[in-house]
Amino acid sequence: MDSKIIDGTDLSAQIKAEVKNHVKRLKSKMARPPGLSVVLVGDDPASAVYVRNKQRAAKEAGMIGNTIAMPHSSTEDEIIQVVNELNIDASCDGILVQLPLPDHINEATVTSSIDPLKDVDGLHPNNAGLLAAGTPRFVPATPGGIVQMLLRTGNNPSGKRVVILGRSNIVGRPISNLLSMKGEGGDATVTICHSRTKNIGDVCRSAEILIAAIGIPGFVTSDMVSDGVVAIDVGINRVEATDRKRGYKLVGDIDFSGVSKRASAITPVPGGVGPMTIAMLLSNTIDAVGFH
Ligand SMILES: NC(=O)c1ccc[n+]([C@@H]2O[C@H](COP(=O)([O-])OP(=O)(O)OC[C@H]3O[C@@H](n4cnc5c(N)ncnc54)[C@H](OP(=O)(O)O)[C@@H]3O)[C@@H](O)[C@H]2O)c1
Repeated sequence: MDSKIIDGTDLSAQIKAEVKNHVKRLKSKMARPPGLSVVLVGDDPASAVYVRNKQRAAKEAGMIGNTIAMPHSSTEDEIIQVVNELNIDASCDGILVQLPLPDHINEATVTSSIDPLKDVDGLHPNNAGLLAAGTPRFVPATPGGIVQMLLRTGNNPSGKRVVILGRSNIVGRPISNLLSMKGEGGDATVTICHSRTKNIGDVCRSAEILIAAIGIPGFVTSDMVSDGVVAIDVGINRVEATDRKRGYKLVGDIDFSGVSKRASAITPVPGGVGPMTIAMLLSNTIDAVGFH
């Protein structure tokens, strides 16, 4: 079966254009453009690239984007102090603390210090709880992007059997809550798999929509899927590539070459879920404006 590649770059451009129009309308009513502040701690090169891309996208959408870069040696108190300043900064609508944080920092403590009404990453316990209750305020950007991908490509999850690999608070758990919610973008029958799941291949083969978010390159192979599956690859893994100038390439958790032969639709890596995450972050920042 020929697969249909879901182009995340193209879909995210649509959402970014919608956000840009929304920003234009807001600017005519507000004294200032919407503001997104990103706190970046340490010098992880991948995080630096993600933050740069987020800020570039915010500026292209007409928002004010600023990054507060802090050294790796920053203490938890110092980071929380910065977050507290952003919490009361009237020009800042959305706050994102780029993860992962250095090992000596408790991520949950820092995330919980963000004003829940500015928590555009949706990771504050209040926002996670609202989502789990089926009444979301901010939906974490990656899961929100996946739902948009499905809806905008005619793969409505309603009534479908969805299998999710991974149960992290950033991806697996919120996407399971979203897809099992009542209403548009939800109404799916959802199964979550993790490292203790037995007979994972059998579970995966039952999926009409399979979402992989585990961080293991090429984990899902063609024998683990059924014909016609919609395969969504969240994984972003660096693997060595001697033929590349930088010495590595990015691959997903799904073996693209094998699974694409059986899938009815599949997301590539890069150019799939990743760009959607940025677009949804901007969309969440617009929502945040309405909360002040
Ligand atoms: N595209 C994007 O914008 C975006 C955003 C976020 C993350 N990501 C990528 O998505 C991937 C997952 O990220 P994450 O933050 O969710 O990862 P994470 O916090 O490390 O969680 C990984 C999950 O995978 C499960 N797992 C590990 N090995 C497994 C196995 N052999 N079989 C089944 N399940 C297994 C773990 O199970 P246990 O709970 O049992 O340990 C855990 O629930 C990474 O590659 C990350 O870079 C991409």
